[in-house]
Amino acid sequence: MADVEIRNVKKVFKREATEVVALNNTNLSLESGGFLCLMGPSGSGKSTLLNLIAGIDRPTSGEVLVDGKNLSTMSESQLATWRNQTIGFIFQSFNLIPVLTAFENVELPLLLTKLSKFQRRAHVETALSLVGLTEWARVRDALSLWHLLPNLDSQSRGRVYDRLAQLLPPPAEVT
Ligand SMILES: Nc1ncnc2c1ncn2[C@@H]1O[C@H](COP(=O)(O)OP(=O)(O)OP(=O)(O)O)[C@@H](O)[C@H]1O
Ligand SMILES: [Mg+2]
Repeated sequence: MADVEIRNVKKVFKREATEVVALNNTNLSLESGGFLCLMGPSGSGKSTLLNLIAGIDRPTSGEVLVDGKNLSTMSESQLATWRNQTIGFIFQSFNLIPVLTAFENVELPLLLTKLSKFQRRAHVETALSLVGLTEWARVRDALSLWHLLPNLDSQSRGRVYDRLAQLLPPPAEVT
């Protein structure tokens, strides 16, 4: 069996009186270790398919199997546990929670694991350090400000740096 198997999948979205058939009789087999580009016009069902493979959504009919597990038969809570342990998402938008600090945003999914507070902290610090964000760990909304930087002209960049500097917590007092 392939690592991802989509068997006769149909996905229908119902909105009041209208029905949109996003996927109809879709079949697909994917092996791990490959690299796949999913291409098609807007509205052709790419995101719908990815959401099904990632266990974010369920098919109206048909089966979705990932690594031998049949996602179509899992309960919501089984799916949530499976997603947490199996799937890594890179969303088009960052889906950051602005009221949380950079540290807390990275820590959030780890709260659903069995990691201790100490282990979570180590994971978060490693992740932030890998992307050069260690000093922004305690800043609220830092990640969303940070990801704007490459797209800005130098004047606007300066303003974002100023804003980040204001947000930075004061250095810990040395006693
Ligand atoms: N939650 C939803 N409720 C109602 N209709 C939806 C929903 N999600 C998707 N659709 C519809 O299903 C169809 C497929 O949408 P989908 O988002 O999968 O397309 P896509 O290929 O990812 O498009 P894009 O390239 O614009 O991201 C579209 O007609 C869309 O309007
Ligand atoms: Mg899409």
